Amino acid sequence: MEKQNSKTNTDTITRRKTILSGIQPSGKLTIGHLSGALDNWVKLQDEYNCFYMIADLHAITVRQVPALLRSQTLETVAIYLACGIDPKKSTLFVQSHVAEHSQLAWVLNCFTGMGECSKMTQFKDKSKTHKENINVGLFSYPTLMAADILLYQADLVPVGEDQKQHLELSRNLAQRFNHYYSNTFKIPEPYIPKIGARIMSLQEPTKKMSKSDENERNIIFIDDTREQIINKVKRSVTDSGSEIKMAADKPGISNLMTLYNIATGKNFTEIESEFSGKGYGDFKLAVGEAVADYIQPIREKFIEYRNDKKMLNDILKEGASNAHFVASRTLSKVYKKIGLYSLDK
Ligand code: TRP
Repeated sequence: MEKQNSKTNTDTITRRKTILSGIQPSGKLTIGHLSGALDNWVKLQDEYNCFYMIADLHAITVRQVPALLRSQTLETVAIYLACGIDPKKSTLFVQSHVAEHSQLAWVLNCFTGMGECSKMTQFKDKSKTHKENINVGLFSYPTLMAADILLYQADLVPVGEDQKQHLELSRNLAQRFNHYYSNTFKIPEPYIPKIGARIMSLQEPTKKMSKSDENERNIIFIDDTREQIINKVKRSVTDSGSEIKMAADKPGISNLMTLYNIATGKNFTEIESEFSGKGYGDFKLAVGEAVADYIQPIREKFIEYRNDKKMLNDILKEGASNAHFVASRTLSKVYKKIGLYSLDK
């Protein structure tokens, strides 16, 4: 509670811009989440008023094993913390703990055309990969995402390229609502990080590394052990030739160079000269060790936090309460404007 006051009372905070982002707890997080999202989220904490969410309601648009969904939710919180998300600076919460997300999503559904949802690339893709379960939730996934964002009057939304279309819909819905009634929602802007390296699958380096890939050898997880990481890198697919260089016809080596760059901070020219005249074997060993060194402290913190359920629950309780405080204000405005009868006044 004390934190909420300090957050809302200070001048700087009221002038700070708001950020909201989320990750679905639908699998273990990978090194791609670390360099593509979490590293960036951590940097934003000092400058912005950040809301970092675990999008469990989005995860159930495809079938989940209940016990796994529960444990992955807690693991995702532990990983956020291990990567440096600081609950004293940012609000960290689970989407389903704040009922306003579902409530605003329903209202937004009533302002969204069928055509707007059916043209979404992700809906079309997921309808192909989950043919047996093309449900209404999957269809209206982007209106729930719009609710996530608009409830907090977010200025900026850090997302990957694949979510830009959903963000565009959020903007359209906000504008539509503001135009129909009166100014209610801030129009959010996408925030695509300048240097967000794309990490590819280890066995099929022309495909993005994905947490939902069935072949675990393709993926470096944030909680992999040192041996697992070194082995996965050692067995990764490389290209013909023997040179270590960034090139379109060398997707395997280029991907390992990206990993090495993330783990060591060395740029590609430095990496090329470090390994000139050396073979793939030496390079792979160096990459494996560097990535293992990079992941190790995060993994250790992750294991410590993951076992402290009481601490995680306390953080989530406070996060839900802070989030609810902001979200409920927006939702009341919306209900009032559209004419839902209220008992309060
Ligand atoms: N759909 C996002 C993804 O899969 C996760 C997400 C849910 C999200 N709600 C959000 C991201 C709101 C940004 C803002 O990556």
